[in-house]
Amino acid sequence: MNEPRIWIRGERAGLGPFTEDLVDQYWQWEQDPGTLVGYGRQTPDSLANRREGFQHQARGTDDQLRFTVYDVAAVPPTPVGATAVLIDHHVRTGEFIIQLGPDHRGNGLGTEATRLTLDYAFHITNLRCVYLSVLSPNKAAITAYEHAGFRVIGEKRNSGYWLGQPANETLMDAIPDDFVGPSAVRQLIAPDR
Ligand SMILES: CC(C)(COP(=O)(O)OP(=O)(O)OC[C@H]1O[C@@H](n2cnc3c(N)ncnc32)[C@H](O)[C@@H]1OP(=O)(O)O)[C@@H](O)C(=O)NCCC(=O)NCCS
Repeated sequence: MNEPRIWIRGERAGLGPFTEDLVDQYWQWEQDPGTLVGYGRQTPDSLANRREGFQHQARGTDDQLRFTVYDVAAVPPTPVGATAVLIDHHVRTGEFIIQLGPDHRGNGLGTEATRLTLDYAFHITNLRCVYLSVLSPNKAAITAYEHAGFRVIGEKRNSGYWLGQPANETLMDAIPDDFVGPSAVRQLIAPDR
């Protein structure tokens, strides 16, 4: 089996291209009940629709960062999830999105994949701010985001559902000055500076 292409890597997680070869895998991760609840989505998507959606995403790369997350401790590295940043070029900001497959959660991969995506967004894409909203009961996600360098900036009330109950959304953001590092991008491009 060929080694997958990985652009930047940390100790456990790495980021590589978002690729058509893995679209059925993305679909599976996205339809997992934990992902649906985490995103406040209420109906599963069809594989046919997801494949069509991939084609749309593949044509929109100017406005979005999309990565496959790999577990780089596995041999060969295994795809475990995906991250994205949806860019607003007018203000140089972007909205962060992540999901990992259910078998790969709770091992620190989400934290590291989030940090690597911020690293890319700040040091290659030159964004000024990356933000997200997360359902407030989604404590694992909020903890992972905080460890990766996001901070809580507020709460939107009654704006979602969690397991059948109305829920608030926690709003978080990160700016380059908050970046916790180490920077895998800097290490790659200018290791001596
Ligand atoms: C959210 C997600 C990406 C996090 O990735 P992960 O690899 O599971 O997270 P990590 O293991 O890096 O970190 C989770 C942290 O939350 C902690 N945690 C887990 N459950 C918790 C809870 N109920 N309360 C408080 N902390 C909790 C863990 O202990 C860990 O902290 P630690 O590193 O100090 O031990 C992943 O769980 C996922 O894909 N979930 C489904 C989709 C989703 O909800 N996406 C987010 C939508 S906004």
